[in-house]
Amino acid sequence: MRKNIVAGNWKMNKTLQEGVALATDLKNILNGTKPNCEVIIGTPFIHLATVAELVKGSVIKVSAENCADKASGAYTGEVSAAMVKSTGAEFCIIGHSERRAYYHETYDILKDKVQLALENGLQPIFCIGEVKEEREANKQNAVVKAQLEGSVFNLNAEDFGKIVLAYEPVWAIGTGLTATPEQAQEIHAYIRSLVTEKYGKEVADNCSILYGGSCKGSNAKGLFSNPDIDGGLIGGASLKAEDFKAIIDAF
Ligand code: PGA
Repeated sequence: MRKNIVAGNWKMNKTLQEGVALATDLKNILNGTKPNCEVIIGTPFIHLATVAELVKGSVIKVSAENCADKASGAYTGEVSAAMVKSTGAEFCIIGHSERRAYYHETYDILKDKVQLALENGLQPIFCIGEVKEEREANKQNAVVKAQLEGSVFNLNAEDFGKIVLAYEPVWAIGTGLTATPEQAQEIHAYIRSLVTEKYGKEVADNCSILYGGSCKGSNAKGLFSNPDIDGGLIGGASLKAEDFKAIIDAF
């Protein structure tokens, strides 16, 4: 059966020292507890190696927030999936709406990133979701379908089985607006139906689909209690250990 997951996404926040302090706080606050979900923290590249070492032996796993769409070579400033893997990170967020919007990451670029992450033993946390205008035009289903078809439905069932999906309505990210549990459940069920159609019921039943967008301690339980919502991808509320723990405790 699929896993429940609470994953943090620090985005472009925290110096190395601040990030180490946050990871230490989280490790301490979770010490001796047995969360009913997998706990992942997504950090900037510069934190990965240090934080992965720091949380070793704890319940916390580490994710990058991005990786390059090329394997290696003359791509100044880029960080490859192999490099991410070498830090001890096990996951890689791919296709976050901020990457799609500000860095023009297309379906094809994301398809390459997913492929490289998998080839290097990283589990992609693949993000999908519609913008406000698309929701207002009731196009959210068509949007997530195109995003899946464009970047991950090319995979075979074995590889697809390694992917975690994150549905993040762009209008809810960092805005304080959250999809209602009903809105989220409805589209999560639709996403799972697409996976069923493509890969069959077993793969779909095993696929964790996280919700992201202004998820916090006060609304996490209402969201996570739905049958097709398997956890959260958390931005703002992952930047303080107590806030993040409150979401983990929702399970
Ligand atoms: P937020 O971000 O929780 O700050 O809305 C979620 C995300 O972008 O992953």
